[in-house]
Amino acid sequence: MKKRTLSVKTLAVIILFTVQHTRAQKKTPQLGKASVEEVITAMTPEEKASLLIGPGMPGYAGLTPLEGEPDVRVLGAAGGTMAIPRLGIPETVLADGPAGLRIQPKRKNDSNTYYATAFPVGTALASSWNTELIKEVGKSMGEEVKEYGVDVLLAPAVNIHRNPLNGRNFEYYSEDPLVAGKIASAYIQGIQQNDVGTSIKHFAANNQETNRLSVNAHISERAMREIYLRGFEIAIKESKPWTIMSAYNKINGQYASSNNDLLTTILRKEWGYKGFVMTDWFGGYPGFESILKEGVTSDVAAQINSGNDLLMPGMEAQKKALIDAINSGKVDINAVNTSLRRILNYVLISPSFKNYKYSNKPDLKAHAAVTRNAATEGMVLLKNKNSILPYKNTENTIAVFGDTSYNFIAGGTGSGDVNKAYTVSLIEGLTNAGFKIDQDIEAAYVPFVNDVVAKEMKRREEHGGLLAVPQRLPEMPLDPAMIAQKAKTDAVAIITIGRNSGENEDRHIDNDFYLGQDEIKMINTVSEAFHAEGKKVIVILNIGGVIETFSWKDKVDAILLAWQPGQEGGNSVADVITGKANPSGKLTMTFPVDYHNHASAANWLGVPAENPKDVYYKEGIYVGYRYFNTFDINTSYEFGYGDSYTSFEYSDLKLSATDFNGEIEVSLKVTNTGKVAGKEIAQIYVSAPKGSIDKPTEELKAFKKTQKLEPGKSETLKFNLKAKDLASFIDTQSAWVVEKGTYKIIAAASSKDIKLSKDLKVSNDIVAEKVNNTFNLENNLDELKK
Ligand code: BGC
Repeated sequence: MKKRTLSVKTLAVIILFTVQHTRAQKKTPQLGKASVEEVITAMTPEEKASLLIGPGMPGYAGLTPLEGEPDVRVLGAAGGTMAIPRLGIPETVLADGPAGLRIQPKRKNDSNTYYATAFPVGTALASSWNTELIKEVGKSMGEEVKEYGVDVLLAPAVNIHRNPLNGRNFEYYSEDPLVAGKIASAYIQGIQQNDVGTSIKHFAANNQETNRLSVNAHISERAMREIYLRGFEIAIKESKPWTIMSAYNKINGQYASSNNDLLTTILRKEWGYKGFVMTDWFGGYPGFESILKEGVTSDVAAQINSGNDLLMPGMEAQKKALIDAINSGKVDINAVNTSLRRILNYVLISPSFKNYKYSNKPDLKAHAAVTRNAATEGMVLLKNKNSILPYKNTENTIAVFGDTSYNFIAGGTGSGDVNKAYTVSLIEGLTNAGFKIDQDIEAAYVPFVNDVVAKEMKRREEHGGLLAVPQRLPEMPLDPAMIAQKAKTDAVAIITIGRNSGENEDRHIDNDFYLGQDEIKMINTVSEAFHAEGKKVIVILNIGGVIETFSWKDKVDAILLAWQPGQEGGNSVADVITGKANPSGKLTMTFPVDYHNHASAANWLGVPAENPKDVYYKEGIYVGYRYFNTFDINTSYEFGYGDSYTSFEYSDLKLSATDFNGEIEVSLKVTNTGKVAGKEIAQIYVSAPKGSIDKPTEELKAFKKTQKLEPGKSETLKFNLKAKDLASFIDTQSAWVVEKGTYKIIAAASSKDIKLSKDLKVSNDIVAEKVNNTFNLENNLDELKK
């Protein structure tokens, strides 16, 4: 009897428990059904930590999952956010990078391929100065992101070219923040049209690769706001990227990823940014070697407290540290919840949450046409003596020199690389365009290039595999007698000079910025032989960043800066050579006479020289043309320069008022005065009067590219300038101020080629924007002044 009573009770308890459990389960808020606040309230500290710390390494930077690890959804993606199935939160996927989606093209036991399109690199895209074109490129890239099941592309990369030797300048856009900001803005808009996200990076002042995880950049608030933040500010305000990637480096003693001034005061309070911030991969760790050390983590609490919402790629030690910090109160629980809110709001709009049925079949054929065209628009015609280009002779053979002609470089290495199905070499491009290539020269180059490429690949494998930094291929020695013979029979010579670089290492002065002896020899031998026969020499620069051109440019007849133009490279170059496309790119950075002419060269990389810990930005705002023009230093090719197969005339510069009252419209007529159709990039510079602080002689404030103008046709371009565009940042006032005086509004074809100008009067100082006092220096910088 007793036994029976007990079992009824037990049964009752079981029933009650089951009912309660089912109710509780029903009550567990589900993302999308319940509010974000209810979901956050329901989260345990462990769950909170698992959403703020990324899921870890498998799939990182293209590595296949380790033996025994499960396959990731998108192989080769750089990371993601964790799923919490209990709360209806799916995982999301983040993948590189700036020149197109970077994922693994092949998967185990799967005969399908997952190639993505390699678009032109950042410098090439920016050199088009064509925001509509960049939107189109972004739209195509974004389609690949979406159709391969990725939620966020880890791009664009918009750090300023402080110095030509930065190993990642190819991913970045310009030495000028307006160009960087406008190009980034168009790129983000293009990608996000597809309802996938972007992550503008690396926020901020990640201007060198040497000791990138730990170097402390000492920068004045003015240089930060006018130069290093301004591009981000323009792009973030205009295009609202879903996410931002904080930089590795420190700024004035504080890691970017735990920098409250940067991530909260400026980004959120001043700029009103609503998305989430993730660290760069292992950001906040003092060095790659520290990552797997027992007991070492980034300062997780400081990162979350300062507004860095997600720590990537995410380490177990970081998760444990965050759980401890939540339990002990070391991390502000409001900051934790704010970060969760931002991430959950992102998850809600992600394709993964919407269960988007991606096809794994983006339209690669259509995108190949997009990249082929985009690359031609970014090419810069540096020299064209006696209009040797366009070159249309398909009857006689062309002598093609330089290893890179046969092994064309589509893009840089590291996370900025793309796993593309093919790269069209220059030889292939020229052949496709109907040119006849000298077969003897080709027959000599092909085995040589195959051999040096194989050696270089082996070297890279032994030096870090995918993360190894590329080295330039040695040029094939040329026999002067043979070349002299070839100059008699071939109609013209083409020489390609190639450079490649990537993250983790900066470029070098010798045999990199400056040409190597083998390259100089090649240029000398070929140009002497061909010029002796009255034949011309064309140089193609297949490079990602600036090289020296001053010492050898007079030896050749034409120089086409093709950049690293993406997978259709050879076809794109051929389109420009034949005149199918009229080159319309202009430089977004200075090509100096000498490397040491750059103001930043004096303190590049920092001190101590053998292992830099501190880098002092003593040049302040004098970066690029702001320095060269103000200090009157001759350049090889100046910022904003680029030739064309046609010519343009500037006229009718008009200002909507002669006195400035906070806003003004500038208009300008551009006419094609040459013989072929073409596009012109008109640049508006402002020259400020002498005020209470140093001002560069001129600063770019607006630009526009015309439509394709037929000969004789004109277009009127309109620009709008607001107070902030004319203002400088005055540190002592914590404000952007337009100081009174007479300003010059300049219409120019480059930073040195001024076409027209008009005066604009500012009668009283105008405070364009009052901001917070940020980025206090640890010690006096002794910044460069006029
Ligand atoms: C790079 C980032 C990249 C990340 C993920 C880092 O090494 O600095 O630009 O997005 O890796 O691959």
